[in-house]
Amino acid sequence: MIDKANESHTATAATGLRGVVVGASTVSDVVGDKGELIYQGYNIHELAKSSTFEEVAFLLWNKCLPRRSELDELKRAIGEAYAVPKPIIDLLRQIPREADPIDVLRTAAQFPTLVAAADRIRRGLDPVEPLPDENIATNFLYMLKGEKPSEYDAHVFDVCLVLHADHELNASTFTARVVAGTLANIYASVTAAIGALSGPLHGGANTNVMKTLLEIGDIKNLESFIKQALAAKRKIMGFGHAVYRTEDPRATHLRQFSKEMGERAGDTKWYEMSRKLEEVMMREKGLYPNVDFFSASTYYVMGIPLDLYTPIFAISRITGWTAHILEQYADNKLIRPRAEYVGPRNLRYVAIDKR
Ligand SMILES: CC(C)(COP(=O)(O)OP(=O)(O)OC[C@H]1O[C@@H](n2cnc3c(N)ncnc32)[C@H](O)[C@@H]1OP(=O)(O)O)[C@@H](O)C(=O)NCCC(=O)NCCS
Repeated sequence: MIDKANESHTATAATGLRGVVVGASTVSDVVGDKGELIYQGYNIHELAKSSTFEEVAFLLWNKCLPRRSELDELKRAIGEAYAVPKPIIDLLRQIPREADPIDVLRTAAQFPTLVAAADRIRRGLDPVEPLPDENIATNFLYMLKGEKPSEYDAHVFDVCLVLHADHELNASTFTARVVAGTLANIYASVTAAIGALSGPLHGGANTNVMKTLLEIGDIKNLESFIKQALAAKRKIMGFGHAVYRTEDPRATHLRQFSKEMGERAGDTKWYEMSRKLEEVMMREKGLYPNVDFFSASTYYVMGIPLDLYTPIFAISRITGWTAHILEQYADNKLIRPRAEYVGPRNLRYVAIDKR
């Protein structure tokens, strides 16, 4: 006879907390069906066109755009903080060269300087002293390559930072808020967020997009490669989104950058392959590209190593993480959801020899 109380039941709770609203926030909003992204009330398209990353950081933290004096003060403070203490650079020298840069980032702070320094050290080069008078985008590219970027590259990189700065309760930001909700400090919260970002379904996707394009190798192989991958139920990185059901507004800007970057470099191969991939994915799966798709070919043509794409995402998203962490501290409640238990109940312990 079946004991009803022992039976399992099928879960009805939303898996992955999809669609579940877990709190209020003014930092950003994703309107999935309209393809809209808003930071503290401002549409991302307007910010991508007219703003800078430093302005966006101020906006996320202070809920308003800065006055000139406030922006100057923020830029001065950021510039002063570019340099990292020598013992931290010495620590980076101890890290094995094959270590993944996103893991290296978890061991330290001051993101742009560390990402650039760690990359140079693993290439056998000395870190470059930061330029405190330059903005984050210019200074980062300078510290990475050892020479000042063109105005165009610095502008594109700056807008990329603007576009990645915040995205409501994405997995890493939610992680940061969960950790902050325990009243752990801001460093612990950010460190946990980096871990969440590193996964291939989240920020790790951008590196994997480029790996896929390189694996395909040539536009003539693309369609058959993708069809085979889809038939094997393989996910194509850079497509689909948990909230957007239409074009990701960030992809609109990045597509244009990928095209322009390619044209300027006289090599539109990766842009053309990306466009073709976009067409095949729409036809085969009805899926739109997300933020990670065109950022991959943009960074690639800019000459940035593949495994830095996700740390670069972190250089930008730390502004959103910290805005959310501060919002969490300001009105804190421990985040402690419930699980819907679907296992059996009332089982009786059976002695080991009788099982
Ligand atoms: C982002 C992502 C995790 C959102 O997923 P989600 O809303 O939970 O949707 P699911 O993973 O449940 O996918 C729903 C369906 O679309 C398919 N799908 C979603 N994204 C896909 C992709 N990139 N490639 C192929 N199929 C995909 C799933 O296989 C599933 O199909 P099925 O119903 O036949 O099983 C998912 O689209 C994905 O894994 N994308 C690739 C990784 C990526 O680019 N991440 C960066 C996000 S900004």
